[in-house]
Amino acid sequence: MRSRVAIVGAGPAGLLLSHLLAAEGVESVVLETRSREYVAARVRAGILEHSTVELLTGAGLGGRLRERGDEHRGIHLQWPHERHHLDFVDLTGRSVWVYGQTEVQKDLVEAADARGQDVRYEVTGVELHELTTERPHVTFTAADGTAHRLDVDVVVGCDGSFGPSRAAVPGTVRRSWERTYPYSWLGVLADVAPSTDELIYAWHPEGFAMHSMRSATVSRLYLQVPNGTDVADWSDDRVWDALATRLGHGQDGWELTPGPITSKSVLPMRSYVQTPMRHGRLFLAGDAAHTVPPTGAKGLNLAVADVALLAPALAELLVKGDTALADAYSDTALRRVWRCTHFSWWMTTMLHTSGDRFDEQLQLSQLRWVATSEAGATGLAENYAGLPIGF
Ligand code: APR
Ligand code: PHB
Repeated sequence: MRSRVAIVGAGPAGLLLSHLLAAEGVESVVLETRSREYVAARVRAGILEHSTVELLTGAGLGGRLRERGDEHRGIHLQWPHERHHLDFVDLTGRSVWVYGQTEVQKDLVEAADARGQDVRYEVTGVELHELTTERPHVTFTAADGTAHRLDVDVVVGCDGSFGPSRAAVPGTVRRSWERTYPYSWLGVLADVAPSTDELIYAWHPEGFAMHSMRSATVSRLYLQVPNGTDVADWSDDRVWDALATRLGHGQDGWELTPGPITSKSVLPMRSYVQTPMRHGRLFLAGDAAHTVPPTGAKGLNLAVADVALLAPALAELLVKGDTALADAYSDTALRRVWRCTHFSWWMTTMLHTSGDRFDEQLQLSQLRWVATSEAGATGLAENYAGLPIGF
């Protein structure tokens, strides 16, 4: 087989890249280990930055998002006995949208079908070859068991934290930075109307809690739990009790309404960055190059920002033979990657309790400053609603 670009991974990064490349007249083949149904149903985060919404809309992917998504002006930040609303629109002129990554993924799969995009689901044994030559290629076994070789001009690794692409950059070239956190999130989806208009991020001595949502009838809630927590230890009643305590049920007349829990899972938290994001004819985008903890919902937005830079860079390279944007890709993308890595780390360490009494006082002091100083609030708002693509 021959194509211009091999894209490994059909998550949001891979499918959006194939979409943007198609709009530039660049043909690609997407290879994915999972089934199409699995990919379109995965539950992930649900906040889209201003620039993400603009980019998706500009790419013709904003229809269902604007119909079913919900525009939020900001978030509520709270700690015991205090709740403050941060209005991002007032502070920065930028809003965010609540629209699940699952929905973004469905829109991308539908758009891929509509343009006849070549996506090979349920492939195995994907291997990347000769990435520093003019003739890179990828070998894989298709779902029907047949072996294939795909010859391309460029390979893009959009295969997340566990795919083969990041390891295809030789150890002598790559550098990585990592932080693991001493806590995880227990995430639940519940068939109940959200008890809040906008997201609540709550600091509490028993641990962080967050109230998010997916629609007018589905709530998404999270609790800080120790690493290694078994969901079996968290009955629905225990989850709702902990949420009520940490989110402040009964304070100033606010009530948390419980409802049937439809999904429960434990998410580990990690920061990871690998550089460079380009090696020869291999480019990395999204979780293949970096992972952020979920606090602040940057994972999907960062993947979108990467491919928003990469698509025009590859089009210039492959259509006009101009290498400037492709050469600049890694450094340009990494500026935002590190900004979001810092922001996610900052939100995470400000809001999660570690058991250290000194840290606790610093966290509360920082929260008070962010919530009550315009300078503090604007810093959070600018990062949360997101810097412009290419910043
Ligand atoms: N071959 C082909 N595909 C692979 C392989 C492989 N060897 N290994 C993994 N994949 C696929 C995964 O099955 C997944 O569908 O690559 C895809 C990677 O998608 P994501 O993990 O969603 O990563 P990305 O597209 O970069 O999106 C980043 O999504 O994962 C969340 O939290 C993350 O919000 C962030 C965003
Ligand atoms: C979510 O809705 O899943 C979500 C929202 C905000 C976050 C993290 C996750 O910071």
